Amino acid sequence: MQTVDFETLSVNAAQLIGKQWMLITAGTPGDFNCMTASWGGLGYLWNRPVAYVFVRPNRHTRGYIDAQPSFTLSFMPEAYRKDLIFCGRNSGKDVDKMANTALKPMTTASGLVAFEDADVVLECRKMFCTSMQEVDFINWSEVSPQWYAEDNPLHLLYICEITATHVR
Ligand SMILES: Cc1cc2nc3c(=O)[nH]c(=O)nc-3n(C[C@H](O)[C@H](O)[C@H](O)COP(=O)(O)O)c2cc1C
Repeated sequence: MQTVDFETLSVNAAQLIGKQWMLITAGTPGDFNCMTASWGGLGYLWNRPVAYVFVRPNRHTRGYIDAQPSFTLSFMPEAYRKDLIFCGRNSGKDVDKMANTALKPMTTASGLVAFEDADVVLECRKMFCTSMQEVDFINWSEVSPQWYAEDNPLHLLYICEITATHVR
């Protein structure tokens, strides 16, 4: 993959994250986990490019995210759609995602795990993490029945500096 400046990337974040989806991968080359995510954003904060993702606290990936300073976002081509669905419907608690998909892990120069064949890989250094609170919603009832009923806990928001950008 080729390393570029994030600012040179010409992407529509809503399309890239919301439609292409991404794999959040956290851990070390010897012990990592990944999960599919389609909620998040790319932006500019604290005078640097940032990515932000929303992860429910009960995801197995959460423990891996919290254990290391950085994680990656891999945006895979359409050929991997079924693998993204698999990683979004199964937990690393129960299955070996690498054994059940065609995903090929790779290690970036800085030692983070991402995936070969990705269109884009973003390396993300955590700067801020907060747990959403019901009281902070302007209109809780607008989202709660669909997204936070019963056993669905509120998301954690991670805001991260984008420390490296790789493209295919
Ligand atoms: C298309 C798609 C998008 C998803 N987006 C998110 C997301 O943004 N945040 C989240 O917490 N879970 C999201 N999920 C659910 C997780 O990927 C799913 O719970 C996964 O099994 C978690 O894996 P883990 O337990 O190994 O971490 C998504 C699932 C799919 C299929």
